[in-house]
This record gives sequence, C-alpha cells and structure tokens, in this order.
Amino acid sequence: MKLFIDTASVEEVREIASWGILDGVTTNPSLVLKAGAEFEPTVKAMCALVKEVSAQVTASDFAGMQEQAKEYSSWHKHVVVKVPMTVEGLKTLAWCKSKGIPTNTTLVFSVAQAVLAAKAGATMISPFVGRLDDIGEDGMKLIEDIRAAWDRYDFATQILVASIRDVEHVRRAAVAGAHICTIPYKVFLELPKHDLTEKGLQKFLEDWESVQSK
Ligand code: G3P
Repeated sequence: MKLFIDTASVEEVREIASWGILDGVTTNPSLVLKAGAEFEPTVKAMCALVKEVSAQVTASDFAGMQEQAKEYSSWHKHVVVKVPMTVEGLKTLAWCKSKGIPTNTTLVFSVAQAVLAAKAGATMISPFVGRLDDIGEDGMKLIEDIRAAWDRYDFATQILVASIRDVEHVRRAAVAGAHICTIPYKVFLELPKHDLTEKGLQKFLEDWESVQSK
C-alpha cells in the first residue's frame, strides 16, 4: 500500500518523507488556501521530494482542464493531474490517458462514479471517506464496495482513500486492500504510536540501565 500526505505544506512533506515511508502528496485548492502557499512553486518543491504529486485543475470545462493538465504536467514528471468527477472531468481523464499523463479523480462518492473514472482511464480514484462519515454514512464501506467491484474486473485504476480523519480509516483501508491512503499530517503523527510500544520501550530502557549499573 502506498502512503501519501494530504497537504499543501512543503515542510510537512519534507518531515514525513524523512521517515522513509512516503510515496506521494495530494493537494487541493482548499489546502493551498489554508497553507497560504503559492501553487506552482509548492508543487515543484514537492516533486523534488516524492514521486507522485497530485495537482488539481480548477477549470470546469474540458478545454480548460486540458490546458491546465498540459501546463501542470510540464512542470515535473512527478505531477499527477487531479480532475473532478464530472462529465468534463471524464473527458479530461480519457484525454490525459491518451497523452500518457497520470491522473487522480477527485470527489468520488459512489461505486458508479468509480467505475466511470476507471473506464475513462484514471490512474487513481479518490473516494472521500470522511465526508461520507460526516453525512452519517460509513465512508469506508464505499472503499470495501469499490474493492469488491475491482476484484471482479481488471481495472488498472488505483483506489486512493481520501478525506481520512483518523488511524482507524487507515487500518480499514489496509484491510480492505486499498492501493493508496492520503493522510493528513496530524494523522500521520498518530500512526507510529501504540501504548504498548511506549510502555515496552520504557521497560527495556529501564532494564538496560539496571544491566549497566551491575
Ligand atoms: O484528499 C482529499 C481531502 O483533502 C479532503 O479532505 O478532510 O477536506 O474532507 P477533507
């Protein structure tokens, strides 16, 4: 399973990449706004740190998305063009596929949308699990359903679990067989922790002190 960080902060990417476990980054306009980041230099800086960086188009028509896809993909070979799950987005996914430009389909909320994006040739689809939880649904059930559908066909499209809110989402994504999780920085910081790891390490260190003092 690949692990991405969901952020527009280059510093956060650098820190998590230093753990040796980071495969990529996803950004979106809301994250860019929150970080107060400049889009193009931020994407380029991230591309120097990891191999797959999703940069989202902001046009809503096919021609506009095509132009942005061409521009973003010229910035760096690690750019993945992120396209919304709309009819214009589907046209863009198919066009990008024909040009060899990798894509990530954002705002996926149903198996039907996932199938359409896969048929259009998306490299990745991003079902937003947290936002489904927010409206009283079980977001991870969508991942399990998409995985079950994928097991019946030969879609090459990778299932990227997005809108992750906690460690439990990551656990369920791994058990379901998702290809990728994109994880916010604050959830990344929780992933290495376990009470028994901390207690066990403390005991080992205390015992080692006793060995040394003998
Ligand atoms: O990758 C998608 C993500 O940025 C959306 O997360 O927390 O705004 O639903 P959230």
